Amino acid sequence: MIYQIYPRSWADSDGDGVGDLPGITSHLDHLTDLGVDAIWLSPFYPSPQLDAGYDVADYRGVDPLFGTLDDFDRLVDRAHALGLRVIVDVVPNHTSAEHPWFQDALLAEAGSRERARYLFRDGRDDGETPPNNWPSRFGGPAWTRVADGQWYLHLFDVSQPDLDWTNPEVQAEFESILRFWLDRGVDGFRVDVAHGLVKEAGLPDATDETLPMWDQPGVHEIYRGWRRLIDAYEGERILCAEAWVESGEALARYVRVDEMHHSFNFRFLTTPWRADLLRATIDDSLRQAAAVGAPQTWVLSNHDVVRHATRLGRTDATDVVDTTGIGPGDPQPDPVLGLRRARAATALMLALPGSAYLYQGEELGLPEATMLPDELRQDPTWRRSGHTDRGRDGCRIPVPWSTEGPSLGFGSGRPWLPQPPEYADLAPDRQRGAADSTLELYRRLLAQRRAHRLGTATLRWVEQPDDVIAFDLVERDITVVANLGSAPIDLPHDREVLIASTPIGARGLPPDTTVWLSPRARPAVASSHGRV
Ligand code: GLC
Repeated sequence: MIYQIYPRSWADSDGDGVGDLPGITSHLDHLTDLGVDAIWLSPFYPSPQLDAGYDVADYRGVDPLFGTLDDFDRLVDRAHALGLRVIVDVVPNHTSAEHPWFQDALLAEAGSRERARYLFRDGRDDGETPPNNWPSRFGGPAWTRVADGQWYLHLFDVSQPDLDWTNPEVQAEFESILRFWLDRGVDGFRVDVAHGLVKEAGLPDATDETLPMWDQPGVHEIYRGWRRLIDAYEGERILCAEAWVESGEALARYVRVDEMHHSFNFRFLTTPWRADLLRATIDDSLRQAAAVGAPQTWVLSNHDVVRHATRLGRTDATDVVDTTGIGPGDPQPDPVLGLRRARAATALMLALPGSAYLYQGEELGLPEATMLPDELRQDPTWRRSGHTDRGRDGCRIPVPWSTEGPSLGFGSGRPWLPQPPEYADLAPDRQRGAADSTLELYRRLLAQRRAHRLGTATLRWVEQPDDVIAFDLVERDITVVANLGSAPIDLPHDREVLIASTPIGARGLPPDTTVWLSPRARPAVASSHGRV
């Protein structure tokens, strides 16, 4: 169980409105109380913060916004003392344009060693046309022209130039960066844009059938090298791929026995709230991971998608999954339905064999901020898409820690994004100990998952109506039933409810609810002689 912390929005210790490393350290007990095994920290490295830190200018430091390297060491020490592993983000596809390498490349000439670390090319035709037709993920073309007329590739923002991973100097530099953090005691890496590092030779145009910038076979050789590198360190350390790839088979290639340990299962995250589709996703995912001997990895929310408590409240949640941002003027999802389904979806996910990633605040049932004024948006997506995709700010709002106080306990300053009013009632001080709260539900799910070792159980489907998902966790004697239909269903009489995602009455399992069932304790048989 790995919990993602987005440092700028977790807790602000110095009142500048942005979360920081000491803030994280001071709230780690929230996580031991919750019952997770590890934290993954999104980037905190020196950066101009043009893509919230995924634009790294120095891979071996801490941005003063977030603290110092000493603060990082204290965080790791405290986490380890509490029994929490620490995973950091590594961003190898691109650097920030402020990275010294890119600054040197701009000053150097075409064909130089400095330019060879990136993907500089001459334009087509008279040089005025970009070298190929690739689009940036954030909108617009993936190429920008520099003063001497050459173009450089950036699959993301113009401030995030792509590195050339065929260059041994780039490879050596990242091995050294991994060692730097491993030597400081980190337990692993989440690898940003893991499917992007190697581009098809010759950088051909993309077509309807081909995406020459994503998921090229050459990436796997890099991760084999990284695996050898981390395996040489003592203790158990892991690699996790962020790879948005076309198929489950392609995803499983990242977790072959000599590559990474985890690869985010974005198909699960993007499956509509429909029993048949979810069953197929779960079934395929387990099979595909098992085929390469890896555990499957489940996830419902992160810092790039609409929070699942909101996503699932959209009217089309049973049809498509749209992860683009929501703003004022857009149709507003139903928050009550969204939270109810989110709790059911989480209870389903946390019963599945494998590993799972949680995103900060989902244990509080935080919704997306869908009414954030457009002028406050910081995500480059909003600007680069020509104001058509509102981007990801709505899932990155500072976490509420208390019902009262400045920024609901996040910090003493004005938070970098305002918290919506409904966050106050979702603060942990309100939810802790409240039987039906989302926080208590997560605590129970995680405790039972651990007690029954569900992560390593075997899933066997149980026959059910079309709009129900039901399976046994065979060796653990637990049955999981999720009702995605519109009417209550009966539950087996020989089982009792261990956990329900929403309180259930006597009339069966209501819609949008998941239960974990265990065998009903046999009534004690009274002996006719009054003896037992
Ligand atoms: C990954 C990150 C995302 C970032 C992008 C570019 O997808 O999760 O937040 O914008 O990479 O680094």
